Amino acid sequence: MKSWMKAKIINLDEVDSTNSYCKRAADDGYRGDLIVCAAHQTGGRGTKGRSFLSDEGGLYLSAMRFLRGFDFSNTFSIMINSCVAVCKALETAGLCPTIKWANDVLVGGKKISGTLIENKLLAGGEMLNIVGIGINVNNALPPCISDIATSVKEQIGRSYPLEKLKRALIKTLGCEYTVDEYKRYVDWLGREVKISSGGGEFSAVAKDIGEDGSLIVEREGGTVKINSAEMSLKL
Ligand code: BTN
Repeated sequence: MKSWMKAKIINLDEVDSTNSYCKRAADDGYRGDLIVCAAHQTGGRGTKGRSFLSDEGGLYLSAMRFLRGFDFSNTFSIMINSCVAVCKALETAGLCPTIKWANDVLVGGKKISGTLIENKLLAGGEMLNIVGIGINVNNALPPCISDIATSVKEQIGRSYPLEKLKRALIKTLGCEYTVDEYKRYVDWLGREVKISSGGGEFSAVAKDIGEDGSLIVEREGGTVKINSAEMSLKL
């Protein structure tokens, strides 16, 4: 992994999506490391085609880089790095985060952060990689999601300096983390969980996270490997 300290940093008041901004920069020929932050997003995007609420007060950041000779079977390493980086940054604010596979970060059992990773293979074998992270910091959350979502402010009982958390995140994003470090933030292995896909939902016992990022569960006496692109976990 590499340090982001020398990346070009763009701070915007408003944008549709910081990930989309990065993509447009790449389409326009930009080829350097780029970090784009926005005070709020009008079209924040989440995983599986969902939208991501991005009101003022939250941290919305995308980090774009170009990787040469990247092994595509290793894309989970990017997710490990970003999830652990978010956890480590939240710890600097005094929080005790956990990870809900694949890339949600929770505090007190409620979602505080999500990550959208977008990769694209470019001509010449280079890979465009965008890691988009949203963290609820001081933004007010709608009452309808108060039982599933939380913010740094809600957890510590006061506003937290956004810039301080952003700096911490840019620093932790530059470190390299292992699957074992990811698993240290996972507190639900060994428990019965629900796995859902477009086609329905089933219960299973979560056993492990594979080196390839799959969720390994036990169901009806057999072991099943689950891919995060197709299924999601409900705790
Ligand atoms: C999810 O929880 O589904 C992922 C949410 C990712 C949101 C971040 S905010 C910064 C970046 N820009 C986006 O449009 N999405 C990501």
